[in-house]
Amino acid sequence: MSLIGVIKEQQAESRVAATPETVKVIVSLGYEVLVESGAGLKASFPDAAYVAAGAKIGSADAAWGADIVLTVSAPADAEIKKLKKSAVLVGVLSPALKPELLSALAAQGVTALAMDAVPRISRAQSMDVLSSMANIAGYRAVIEAAHEFGRFFTGQVTAAGKVAPAKVLVAGAGVAGLAAIGSASSLGAIVRATDPRPEVADQVKSIGGEYLLVEVEEKMESSDGYAKETGKAYDQRAAEIYSEQAADVDIIITTALIPGRPAPKLITAEDVALMKPGSVIVDMAAAQGGNVAGSVAGQKVVTANGVTILGYTDLPSRLPAQSSQLYGTNLVNLLKLLTPAKDGKAVIDFEDVVQRSVTVVQDGAITWPPPPVQVSAAPVAKAEPVAMPEKKTMSLRTRAALIAAGMAALFAVVSLAPAPLPQHFLVLMLSVVIGFYVIGKVHHALHTPLMSVTNAISGIVVVAAILQINDTNLLVQILAAVGILLASINVFGGFAVTSRMLKMFTRGDK
Ligand code: NAI
Repeated sequence: MSLIGVIKEQQAESRVAATPETVKVIVSLGYEVLVESGAGLKASFPDAAYVAAGAKIGSADAAWGADIVLTVSAPADAEIKKLKKSAVLVGVLSPALKPELLSALAAQGVTALAMDAVPRISRAQSMDVLSSMANIAGYRAVIEAAHEFGRFFTGQVTAAGKVAPAKVLVAGAGVAGLAAIGSASSLGAIVRATDPRPEVADQVKSIGGEYLLVEVEEKMESSDGYAKETGKAYDQRAAEIYSEQAADVDIIITTALIPGRPAPKLITAEDVALMKPGSVIVDMAAAQGGNVAGSVAGQKVVTANGVTILGYTDLPSRLPAQSSQLYGTNLVNLLKLLTPAKDGKAVIDFEDVVQRSVTVVQDGAITWPPPPVQVSAAPVAKAEPVAMPEKKTMSLRTRAALIAAGMAALFAVVSLAPAPLPQHFLVLMLSVVIGFYVIGKVHHALHTPLMSVTNAISGIVVVAAILQINDTNLLVQILAAVGILLASINVFGGFAVTSRMLKMFTRGDK
């Protein structure tokens, strides 16, 4: 049984790699867990909560000396020295940006798994730290902006006067951008968004934003779902849009990134100068060079014209309890993958694309970069229109013959059958015709709700069948019983479908 160490992060980091909730799951995988004393304090997880979840509390050296060490941020040199040979270190290691860290880990003879190297395939989504943290960061960016803005986001009409809603521009509608759009629009702001990937337009619209299309000749679709560097024509047109928007909006949140490249410069100093005093910009790409002229990584800057530019790089860490829980869950999902037998022993299988991709150092040998993986972020290719078989239409003659035969049959029934059969028969025929046209005109997607409201008709059938069930004729009794059964299924099924549909529109906490 291996020992898992959870270390206390460095000063600037408020998150912790395991929470009492995730410790319980780790213990159920057969591991022993040792948490460094005070590791969860900044995220509101006291030592006692870890003990209650089944962990031991120990010193920093004991946690760093474990078989598997869980961290959030990359370790410092002194900390790497504390790792024992053959230990496994798991954390956010930025392997593409920190080759010297990989060399130091390799020199120590350890195995290192980078959580930020999880391939973006559907199966690995539960381990995708970049997504879980970007989502939190997008939300927090809006909260930081609202705090600095000092005015309502939502529009109001009060006795004391009318308040216009705030206008927010979000540049880059990836995971963080979409979280920001959703949060700002739920606070009542008017939200607009840009992104060179036109496939995000529907996503932006679905969470209450307006997608500003940068119309250029060149096609901006990407093969892997991630943005490529934009062309000159695109940049020129986008720059015009940013200048127009800067003069109009109150808040700009930028999230634009291109994998493996410095962040694109989107908002110029001239754009910032066009903004109204009191406006706020949150540059979420500040750590990668920034999208906004004048933003400083990790700092708040106020320009001469009174615009506040936030370059905070620790947005997820500003919601430490939530982000630790999501990060911890990402880690637990990776541990589950590494421990299929639940026996407290981690085995790394290089045949598995996720395990191969996250392993950046193995037993002292650098294994980064991994072979390329086909990500699932690519937009779905538009299917070629399928040629539909031609619908066979009846010739005019056949139709006329059929109508004539139908009318003759109706005439025969009405004139020959004893009363009151013709009267009932006519009502039945008219109901069939009306029912056919009414239901036939309803869109397919609405058939289920339509059926769920035909309970009334089924109710009448049940009542009629109950009246018939006392009949002396056995056949009538059997038919009445079948009628009651089938109509009841429709009634109760209808209620079940309706209640299921209503649940889809209610909040989860109700
Ligand atoms: P990211 O952090 O690399 O980029 C952020 C956003 O900036 C992207 O939407 C990008 O298109 C945009 N951008 C780049 N250049 C820009 C420019 N010049 N102007 C304006 N915007 C610009 O991307 P992120 O948020 O990590 O993910 C991007 C997409 O990947 C997501 O929308 C999603 O479709 C997909 N994805 C798939 C996952 C999976 O299948 N497991 C997991 C996470 C994301």
